[in-house]
Amino acid sequence: MTEQLHLLHHAAQAMKSIAMVSLTLIVAGPSESRGADIKKGEAAFTRQCSLCHSIGKDDANRFGPNLFGILKRKAGTVPGFKYSQAFLSTAQWSWNAETLKAWILGPAHMVPGSTMGVFQGVADRDSDDIIAYLDSQR
Ligand code: HEC
Repeated sequence: MTEQLHLLHHAAQAMKSIAMVSLTLIVAGPSESRGADIKKGEAAFTRQCSLCHSIGKDDANRFGPNLFGILKRKAGTVPGFKYSQAFLSTAQWSWNAETLKAWILGPAHMVPGSTMGVFQGVADRDSDDIIAYLDSQR
């Protein structure tokens, strides 16, 4: 009997994982088939980020840190940039497509008290393009 309960439990877990995977596929589907556009991302970066961020290799930091090679970098580690205390104590992640998306959609929401919080964030439709552009600058 306990054996059967065990099997049932495992079966339920397996069903749950399958449901999660298909849900993720459905959610990821539309934006992936649209395909992020690096050129559009570059234009959006110039409009919305370049006021505060350089992105060329070895460019000087501006009001924000230089963003060359930011994907896969540990947050808060660009040399010579003085981060806010709020950012240093909260941003314990590395930058990937997911963390970057959450950040550029709402920096003040992700890290309350961050100096990038004066920027309200990008529109959802621009975010994947910007991330694709950032990923291309390494
Ligand atoms: C008003 C100026 C401003 C704008 C506009 C701005 N940022 Fe920032 N950004 C900052 C500042 C300042 C920080 C450092 C935050 C802190 O220390 O609290 C930062 C931090 C970051 C970081 C974290 C870097 C690291 O070293 O961990 C990323 C990534 C980033 N910004 C991306 C962007 C992108 C992409 C855009 C455009 C969509 C953008 N930012 C727009 C000022 C800005």
